[in-house]
Formats: sequence, C-alpha cells, structure tokens
Amino acid sequence: MPESWVNSAERIGADLHLELSGPGGRRAALIRALREAVRSGRLPAGTRLPPYRSLAADLGVARNTVADAYAELVAEGWLTARQGSGTRVAERAAPPRGHARVPTRGPGRVRGPRHDLRQGAPDASAFPRAAWAASYRRALQQAPSEVFGPGDPAGRIELREALAEYLARARGVRAEPDRIVVCSGFAHALRPLFGGGVLRGPLAVEAYGLGFHRELLAAAGVRTVPLPLDEHGARVDRLTRERAVLLTPAHQFPTGGPLHPARRAAVIDWARARGGLVLEDDYDGEFRYDRKPVGALQGLDPERVIHVGSVSKSLSLAVRLGWMVLPERYVDGVLAAKGDREAWASVLDQLGLADFVVSGSYDRHVRRMRQRYRDRRDRLVAALAERAPHVEVTGVAAGLHAVLRLPPGTERSAVGAAARRGIALDGLAGFRHPDTDMPAHDGLVVGYATPPEHAYGAALEALCEALAPGGESGGHPAEPAACASPGP
Ligand SMILES: Cc1ncc(COP(=O)(O)O)c(C=O)c1O
Repeated sequence: MPESWVNSAERIGADLHLELSGPGGRRAALIRALREAVRSGRLPAGTRLPPYRSLAADLGVARNTVADAYAELVAEGWLTARQGSGTRVAERAAPPRGHARVPTRGPGRVRGPRHDLRQGAPDASAFPRAAWAASYRRALQQAPSEVFGPGDPAGRIELREALAEYLARARGVRAEPDRIVVCSGFAHALRPLFGGGVLRGPLAVEAYGLGFHRELLAAAGVRTVPLPLDEHGARVDRLTRERAVLLTPAHQFPTGGPLHPARRAAVIDWARARGGLVLEDDYDGEFRYDRKPVGALQGLDPERVIHVGSVSKSLSLAVRLGWMVLPERYVDGVLAAKGDREAWASVLDQLGLADFVVSGSYDRHVRRMRQRYRDRRDRLVAALAERAPHVEVTGVAAGLHAVLRLPPGTERSAVGAAARRGIALDGLAGFRHPDTDMPAHDGLVVGYATPPEHAYGAALEALCEALAPGGESGGHPAEPAACASPGP
C-alpha cells in the first residue's frame, strides 16, 4: 500500500488522503500536507483529525511524528486541541464552507429568479421528508442482502407490484408487474424505447410540447411530425404513415385540455388498424381539480399503448423514478436495451418508493398537494380576472400550470415585462414544434406549483403588475385594485 494513503482513520470514521513528499523529513512533510488540506478547504473547520496512533499506523510514521506535527499546527493556529474532544481544524483557519464550490448549473438557475413561475416542478418545499425517511428506513431495514448487488433492469418486484396496484386504482391502467419496467423518468424512457431500437420513427407528436423531448428524439435519429391541436386536443385524424404517436391525453402539455373521448377512441382505432402504437405521457395525471380524473388511455387497449409516468410532478424531480407499462411484445426488447443490470434507477430508492406507495403515504401526499395546488390555481384565476381581465386563463382544470392567452403579438412583451419584475416564466412560442403549420397562439405558461407556499402571494402580485392593463404589456390605464389575497 502506498504510504501517501491514510485509509482507516477508524476513530473519526473518515478517510484522509495526505501526500507526504518534499524536503525536510516526515514531520515537515506531514505539517505541509495538513496545512495544505486545511487551506484548500479539504478539511473544513471543526473536522476532527485522526488520533496520533491511527494516523501514524496508516502513514507508517512514528507516533511522535504525528504528535509533533499536530502540536506545531496548534501553535500556528491551524488546529485546536482540547481535552476530550481531540484535535480539530480551527474555526478561523479554514475558508468558509462551500467556498471552493463552483456552481454547476446554468445562468439564471444558480441563484434563481425572485419569482419562479416556470412550469415543470412541484413545490420543492413540500417534499414529504418525514414520510419519505420513514419509508426509506423501513425499506432498508427489511431489504435482503441481495438488494445491495446489481439490480434487475426491470426494477424491484416490490416496486412493480406496488405500481401495478396503484396505477390500476388511481389511473385506470391495466398493469401486471411483469409488464412494468422501472426507469428514471419519461426522458429516460425515450432512450431504451427509441435509442435501443424498440420503436422507430417517424413519430407523430403534438404541435405544442416539450422541446427537450423533441431534442432527445432528434438525437436518437427519430423524426417527429407535428399534429395540430384544436379545442378537443390533438388532431389524431391527421395520423397517416407514422408508426407511433406521442400524446399527453390526460392534460395536453402545455395547452392544458384533455383529449376528447372521441379522439381517444379514434387514436386506438388508428393504432389497431395500422399496427401503430400510442406513447402516453401521463406526466401529471393525478392532479385534476374540478372533475373526475381522466383515466389513462392505456386502459382502452394495453397492447396498443405504452403508458409512461414518473414521480417528477407528484413528488419531486430529484427522486428520478418513473415507469413504463408495456405491451407484452415490447418487454424483452426494452429490457435488452436497458442492459444486464439496472444502471439508472437506484434500487434503494425503488424500495423506498415501494414502501411509500404501499404504506399509503403517496396517496396522502398527492391528496394534500392536490388541495394546495387547487387553492393556488383559484387564487391565480381570481387575481387575473380582477387585475388583468384581458388575459384569458386556460388549461386550469388539471395540472400544475395554466396558460394565459394573450392578444396576438403581445407574448414577447409580456415575458419581458414579467422578467423586469423578477418573474421567470415561459411563453407558449418556446413549446411550438418548428414544423407545424397550425396558427400560433400568444400566451404565457405559468407554473403555479413551483414557488414555496410563503412566496406564492408575492409572485402572483408581481404577475398581476406585469400584466395589468396600462402596464408595459397591457392596453389601457390600470384601475388600482387589490391583487391576489396573500393566502394562507
Ligand atoms: C410534458 C412532460 N412530460 C414528462 C415530464 C416528466 O419528466 P421526467 O419524468 O423525465 O422527469 C414532464 C416534467 O416536467 C413534462 O413536462
């Protein structure tokens, strides 16, 4: 073993990597190495150093060498030594925690906007930490040792059984556990399905949709063909030679309506007649406010629909777990495309989620969030009706975002007016398929789930100001009026 490694600082429970090199003997080299580790922030303030004996044994130096080095650094102020609490890095010696960290996210994401009304994320402050921790703990305690080996690419059976029951009950999906393949979300599902050669293009998609998904498909060599949208959803009567169609039937993304029942039937008829396939993106199907939930399209014909869902909207984007419910003929191909072992979705997280679902915590969380988002939606609608009546609020029966329809030609200025008030949100134009010939609509996509509860009132107030008539993006002079109620 090279002497530069300290592998078992067992009494502090942490490994410590030190290079003993340079002139002046072992003691001087150790002092230099420790000083450098503190200066660079590798050993943060308060860190307890290994006892003399274990560090000496690991470095292959005399115990006195370590004792002398520690004493020297205490005298210089780098370390402190107190009876009973050992030798630690002094508070003032180390740079502030996190000092050396470099933000890795893109511009605008590091500090975040003052009011984040971008669609796509649930309220991160509402993550059910206690219930999740309880599920995770139970799952870990009960897990057999084989769990800690390589994972089955289909996913843990505990999770697939839990999902089969939940999806049948809550979403009307006809699912057997052996038709379910766990993945890390919708975006990941596209890889084995298209990148792995299970499905091929051309793929029909809705004329408005998530550009990120279109990019992933393009990168996999899949040509996407836009289907126009009308008040009943995607014009599935325009399907021709495509092999498959990607739809958001429960809640068209981003415009907001459900696919009309006649169109649901029609797209299944098309798939049966042409040997086609429907890829169902059920991204926020749990969140429906005014009517009974729209069941999954997959329930109409499980052999013609691949149903894909994830916990990204219902729980958190950070969990990175999703599922595909597959027609029988695709199961082997998808598993082969995933590889011999699970490489994407942590097996431990899968077990945690299985417990979370089976224990009822998932249902409780979804019900609680549904109530919260419904309240936010109602406040948004009421505030805009009062303060910006020229704006038509649409797509609000479900989901975590609304579409504010704007007079033609005003979208850009509205996004700009919002930005100047510290609001981040998207215009509809960013979701439009570049090849569609359907008429463009001006609008804003407002993600009302994203801000934490305490910040929502201020975000709404800022939005009302940005859109008020007479404001930068409005028409006539503003009436002074109270905006959104501050809320609970
Ligand atoms: C249209 C749409 N589909 C799917 C998803 C879920 O994506 P993922 O499961 O990859 O996190 C989202 C989430 O933002 C979405 O907006």
